[in-house]
Amino acid sequence: MTPRRWVAALALTVVLAAALVVAAQPFEPATGPPMADHPSRVAALTPPMGWNSWNRFGCAVSAELVEQSADALVSLGLTALGYEYVVIDDCWMADHRDARTGRLVPDPVKFPRGIADVARYVHARGLKLGIYEDAGTLTCAGYPGSLGHERLDARTFAEWGVDYLKYDNCNHGSSVSTRHYIARYAAMRDALDAAGRPILFAICEWGVHQPWIWAPGLGQSWRTTHDIADSYASMLAIFRANAALSAFAGPGGWNDPDMLEIGNGGMTPTEERTEFTLWAAMAAPLMAGTDLRAVSPSDAAIYANPEVVAIDQDRLGQQAVPVAAAGRSAGSQGLWVLRKQLADGSVAVVLFNATDVAATVSTSVAELELHAASEYALRDVWTGEDSTVGSTTASGRLSVVVAPHEAKMYRITATR
Ligand code: GLA
Repeated sequence: MTPRRWVAALALTVVLAAALVVAAQPFEPATGPPMADHPSRVAALTPPMGWNSWNRFGCAVSAELVEQSADALVSLGLTALGYEYVVIDDCWMADHRDARTGRLVPDPVKFPRGIADVARYVHARGLKLGIYEDAGTLTCAGYPGSLGHERLDARTFAEWGVDYLKYDNCNHGSSVSTRHYIARYAAMRDALDAAGRPILFAICEWGVHQPWIWAPGLGQSWRTTHDIADSYASMLAIFRANAALSAFAGPGGWNDPDMLEIGNGGMTPTEERTEFTLWAAMAAPLMAGTDLRAVSPSDAAIYANPEVVAIDQDRLGQQAVPVAAAGRSAGSQGLWVLRKQLADGSVAVVLFNATDVAATVSTSVAELELHAASEYALRDVWTGEDSTVGSTTASGRLSVVVAPHEAKMYRITATR
């Protein structure tokens, strides 16, 4: 080899080694509890709440829809309960970037006054604005993606006054880029940090590469499954997958089993209450996914149940743990008992009958690991009924007939 070739080979080795070091950095698994370790990060100490356009409206988004939905959150009393983020999902963009600046362009028909104008409207009502992008070359619906444009896009969102970014996972496998999945999400995390505005980072990777392992250091929530559909079967499948992940959620970082379908017509009122109950028990983000401008009073009442919302938002941030009973594993035969420890020492308990026939769901104060006491107050957070259960003799058992697809939810407190 000539000296010149030596130098070239050496330089190449150094560059490759440096590239490896850089590439290796974001792959380190998160250690310790999820936390906001950058001054401008959103803390998300309780699960995010709000509304998202996708489940009900798909690509039919507009400034008018977003603003009217913000108004509805206020008039339905949902803002007072903590619903805060108004999120525009996919399809808000034009199909090209600005030729001169390279910036994303809001669809001029759907958002004629731009996104900053919508942000001002939403902020004026005490709410926050969320937007959608994708860690690929195109979004799932085919609009320009952020891959390779992270810095500019994060700056653009910050300038527009965006407070929440849902960051999706379509269209990254082409020859254009096969960058590692963590690197793609870390690039946007870094870009958001650099943009200097607190923007909640909602990672939407569908659970493909176990994001509950690596996403806690990057985002405040991570989707754990593929998309929900408006049916009991879909909701149940997602519950079953997400329920197994309680160890990975906590203040600052939440498992996200996808947005709520309550009000969209595909589930019975019982199943809708079940979705809300299970999501609250799992400390899931509560993102209403329906047309809040036309929601029925009974569906609005589900979203607005203050006691269920309080369980979701409990500051201890525990995701409910499925309880095994003597002789059977948690959830066996479609009968579930879930236990969520709450900050005030009380415990939220769900008795869920996932089957198609009425069944008795049983547990006991021992299985629920309740503090030693001789009597417990039981509050049904859906009916408002109060009762008691003793810790001794047969009364130490909690056995309730639960309707098909129903989830009962109690708050249990030691009284003496
Ligand atoms: C993916 C996401 C959905 C939604 C659509 C939009 O499927 O998982 O939640 O954002 O893309 O195209």
